[in-house]
Amino acid sequence: MEVVICSTYEDLSKKAAKAIADLVRAKPNAVLGGATGSSPVGLYKELIRMHKEEGLDFSKVTTFNLDEYVSLAPDHPQSYHYFMFDQLFGHINVPPENVHVPSGISEDHEAFCARYEQQIKEAGGIDIQILGLGSDGHIAFNEPGSSLASRTRLVTLAEQTIEDNARFFDKKEDVPVHAISMGVGTILEARKLLMVVNGKNKASALADALEGPVTCICTASALQLHPDSIVFADEEAASQLKMRDYYNWVQKLKAEQLSKVCER
Ligand code: GLP
Repeated sequence: MEVVICSTYEDLSKKAAKAIADLVRAKPNAVLGGATGSSPVGLYKELIRMHKEEGLDFSKVTTFNLDEYVSLAPDHPQSYHYFMFDQLFGHINVPPENVHVPSGISEDHEAFCARYEQQIKEAGGIDIQILGLGSDGHIAFNEPGSSLASRTRLVTLAEQTIEDNARFFDKKEDVPVHAISMGVGTILEARKLLMVVNGKNKASALADALEGPVTCICTASALQLHPDSIVFADEEAASQLKMRDYYNWVQKLKAEQLSKVCER
């Protein structure tokens, strides 16, 4: 696991966006895993800027999103489908037919989930999966207690998540209690995981995820099982990490090495 502690949210967003842009430049037909929530908004803004100002090309990119609320149609302003077009896809040149967001309104959720998994396989698997972190340590909508081998399925949201996400709805009662979510096992199959975490309210969940035991009680702790994961955290989110000096030391040496290579 690589942990990059950033001084500001802007810095974090720029660094995370660069990692994605580097992949898209190296592999124009990359398969990107999208995430919702407020954490990746800055990184999406930066990708939009790179597309508009630097010509970053998404025309061959395919995307798969992590999750969607059950019962919300794609044009519902609080649906994750709507969010992704509003915050990213509507502003870059990814072909809409290459975009996949789970459906929250399919007639047969089980069949839909099996098909979604199949579509990911047929696309060659996800190259880089963007992740946020729930305050209860969840990734996607894999709430505490989700199997670390879970696949895309119908899930029930935890009270904490409903409370956290109520801010996007008129009232708490409007937050759907079910969702379709990629499983932890599905997420672990992505070739690279990229997590963005900011704010004080994530500090304890991030410490549990990166430095606690691997457990279904904090599904983000599954990152420890992945051979290629990178976490961009701001100072507040990183404030409870025991190994923060070490993470900073690794990044300092990496930057020094890079500047030596550039001098040559
Ligand atoms: C929701 C999403 C998660 C996201 C989390 C954190 O629960 N399903 O994928 O990581 O929110 O959201 P935020 O970044 O707004 O804190």
